[in-house]
Amino acid sequence: MIKIKPADKPLRGTIKVPPDKSISHRAIIFSALFNSAVEVFNCLDAADVRSTIGCMQALGADIQRDGDSLLVKGNALRQSATPLDAGNSGTTARLLTGLLAAQPFQSTIIGDASLSKRPMARVINPLKKMGADISARDDNFLPINIKPAKLHGIDYCLPVPSAQLKSALLFAALFADGKTTIAEPIPARDHTELMLAAFNANITRAGNSITLDPSAKLSAPDKIFVPADFSSAAFFIVLAAIIPDSLLTIEDVGVNPTRTGLLDVLRAMGANITLSNLRTQAGEPRADLTVAYAPLHAAELTADIIPRLIDEIPILAVAAAFAEGTSRFRDLAELRVKESDRLAAIVEQFNRIAPGAFRAEGDTLFIQGQCPTRFADCHSLGDHRIAMALTVFATAAHGAAIENQACVDISFPNFFDYFC
Ligand code: S3P
Repeated sequence: MIKIKPADKPLRGTIKVPPDKSISHRAIIFSALFNSAVEVFNCLDAADVRSTIGCMQALGADIQRDGDSLLVKGNALRQSATPLDAGNSGTTARLLTGLLAAQPFQSTIIGDASLSKRPMARVINPLKKMGADISARDDNFLPINIKPAKLHGIDYCLPVPSAQLKSALLFAALFADGKTTIAEPIPARDHTELMLAAFNANITRAGNSITLDPSAKLSAPDKIFVPADFSSAAFFIVLAAIIPDSLLTIEDVGVNPTRTGLLDVLRAMGANITLSNLRTQAGEPRADLTVAYAPLHAAELTADIIPRLIDEIPILAVAAAFAEGTSRFRDLAELRVKESDRLAAIVEQFNRIAPGAFRAEGDTLFIQGQCPTRFADCHSLGDHRIAMALTVFATAAHGAAIENQACVDISFPNFFDYFC
């Protein structure tokens, strides 16, 4: 349990947040496919990424940490002697399912109790269409067993806007016969596509369709730079946006437009956020973000923006609790299959701080802004983003005691240093 105190002064100054989790996973997996050494600068050191490192080492890669960098050198992938443990990481489990479906050896992927409840059929079904030989508990859950198979390219329209699904198919497509085309009606984060391009893959986009031709010869860059994680910065962006008189800069944050829906929504709510020092490395834009406190008003969200802020819904709900008026976030079905049922978690836990402010109807969340708040006993439900959003909420309200706070180690191990 951790006790969070209410803020007694505005947030002022400059901070850094940890490296991007999505890009770190991808940098490790891609680099491990090549036998030339790749230095992944500023690679996240947190539990989810350690799960990916453990799996790739079990598959034969040589991976060592050197301060903030990771040195990755692949040997031809080989069968793991033990099941591959994805821990709590959906990205590890799903991306590796795609990669391993196309390998000439058998693999088993397992995970913790939370990950073992998350749906995998969305990845398994299209991989089977490519010729994969995969079985899973109840056809949908870990453990997943993968047998060797030769895959062929497919044309596939994503039924859910999921970057993990898209990436799993792209990893499989790299080893398939013929081209694969993936249509995504609502675009999700494109880190895999950008990294494939950085490894010289023949990947093209036409509108919302991506085509990968696996016949091009790939080569690894010797360095990959990982920016700070926008999804970790999000907690401080909102904190500065809701504590009066705050003026906070967060340095060198990834601002890939497929990730920054939160900025668009907060600005539409009245927030004062500026980007400076904008630059791009391997297609990934990064910038310093400065947030100055300004009064907020309510927001409306619909399906088209959800993938661009999928991990920021809990913290955006906190911002809405400080805004004038009632916010309505629609089309949140995907929130129910994250590290927790985040829609239920928001209603159950956030209402402890602002009783009656949060209400779900189907997949829509209603947030009544500026309701009275109080000190509360809360629970993270083992979900890192719920723990961090509760911390921000409590800091801007009257404090809280939060149970099971250690789950922040998934993405932001030193998160509480900023609050104690
Ligand atoms: C991720 C994609 C998203 C996101 C997750 C990381 C990724 O999941 O919620 O935290 O790295 O590809 P979905 O693909 O399930 O939406």
